[in-house]
Amino acid sequence: MRARPQTHYFSPAPLAPSRPRVVELEFRGRHFRFVTDRGVFSYRGVDRGTRLLLEALEFGPEDEVLDLGCGYGVVGIVVATLAPRARAVLVDVNPRAVELARENARRCGVSNVEVFHGDLYAPVQGRKFDVIATNPPIRAGRAVVRALVEGAPAHLKPGGRFYLVARTAQGARTLGRMVAEVFGEAEEVERGGGYRVYRGRKVSGV
Ligand SMILES: C[S@@+](CC[C@H](N)C(=O)[O-])C[C@H]1O[C@@H](n2cnc3c(N)ncnc32)[C@H](O)[C@@H]1O
Repeated sequence: MRARPQTHYFSPAPLAPSRPRVVELEFRGRHFRFVTDRGVFSYRGVDRGTRLLLEALEFGPEDEVLDLGCGYGVVGIVVATLAPRARAVLVDVNPRAVELARENARRCGVSNVEVFHGDLYAPVQGRKFDVIATNPPIRAGRAVVRALVEGAPAHLKPGGRFYLVARTAQGARTLGRMVAEVFGEAEEVERGGGYRVYRGRKVSGV
């Protein structure tokens, strides 16, 4: 018998047969419904780490927010909904996730979003954001996560903030140290349910 091809949520071309489903999220008095599918992260429901990231995230009414590794679009779409004059830019390497994020933006009725397919910062080269938020693809490997953290300052405006959530059991503290190394310091701004959220701030010279 031939082995079935292995794919992961971060695979550029997920081979898992499609089986769409709807997951729901209550956040800040709003009700969200997202279509998700097999072969994307957090198929069963919005990840607890993603929710903690949203709780930690501070953004202004007109901020430009990059949701890096957007999956089916939870973070960027919630930001775009809560701040209709803000702009959310969503990027993912997984084309199925990108399709879902576009569909979810449409279904949620937000037009202040842009969704791009591509590797890390490649689709937003030359652009700078007030906020970058990520629930990083730990399983894609350390090199990818390091490139994600190291690439952040170049894509932030002065004073811009970088938020990263990770599971304590999957090396969140190590990632917190990585954020501190890249930004000069990192603050643990939220902790709960086995996850931690770190924030780095771009000061001049970083
Ligand atoms: C842990 S998931 C988080 C998804 C979504 N933000 C959420 O919280 O539900 C990480 C995401 O990063 C994406 N990813 C992995 N490698 C990437 C890369 N090189 N560039 C962009 N996105 C990547 C994966 O496809 C996945 O959707």
